[in-house]
Amino acid sequence: MLKVESLTKHFGKKVVLSDVSFTVNKGEVIGLVGENGAGKSTLLKILSTLTPIESGRILYNELNYQDNRFDLRKKIGFVPQDIAVWEDFSVEENMVFFEQLSWKKRTKKELRQLCQDMKLEHWKHKTSSLSGGMKRKLNIALSLIHDPDILLLDEPTVGIDLKSKTEIGAYLRHLAKSKNKLILYTSHDMEEITSLCDRIYGIGTDPFYKKFLEDHGKDVHVL
Ligand SMILES: Nc1ncnc2c1ncn2[C@@H]1O[C@H](COP(=O)(O)OP(=O)(O)OP(=O)(O)O)[C@@H](O)[C@H]1O
Ligand SMILES: [Mg+2]
Repeated sequence: MLKVESLTKHFGKKVVLSDVSFTVNKGEVIGLVGENGAGKSTLLKILSTLTPIESGRILYNELNYQDNRFDLRKKIGFVPQDIAVWEDFSVEENMVFFEQLSWKKRTKKELRQLCQDMKLEHWKHKTSSLSGGMKRKLNIALSLIHDPDILLLDEPTVGIDLKSKTEIGAYLRHLAKSKNKLILYTSHDMEEITSLCDRIYGIGTDPFYKKFLEDHGKDVHVL
């Protein structure tokens, strides 16, 4: 279980996260929604260990983030909002490069299968020649190489075509349910959020998202 307790984050005088607390259970897919600048990416970066905790506490299965940052990183897969792939490498070279850095070893066949699961077939293509949506698919595949327990996905499907997006969503949901993964997901696509997520958290003060989703029969808990 991932437990976030009284998390606060400022940038200068601006309060971005204020006393945020919630828990996520294994097997759950959680949606994070809110307006631009609400703090979704900030929260995911803190949960990924990339941004240090300012105040509050995060625990994963009783492992405290403050003291176990490096052990926890092995368990976390992160897709940042800005695509993070090596443009000069082929898809294959990107997968192999990150596999070499990973603590978990994978065969070429497994790496290729991960790309295929993400509906990306361009194994030998140079990444700079791929479309935006294809690069996003590669980015999601990269985050899965080390079979993480916690998957943090920051708008991972922006620009991905509807068919692939639907299939990737189904894959991720199945992954959470069948292997007890814990997934936190941000998106501005409310249809994707409502179909993919077990529970939804709202970030920020704008009541629009809560009302919109409640009008569509979904509960939103505002953090
Ligand atoms: N490194 C930084 N330095 C200063 N301010 C920052 C920094 N990163 C984020 N912010 C500010 O923190 C707030 C939250 O940003 P964040 O990127 O978390 O929003 P978001 O909810 O992910 O928005 P979006 O939907 O546009 O991705 C914004 O006001 C942003 O300007
Ligand atoms: Mg963001």
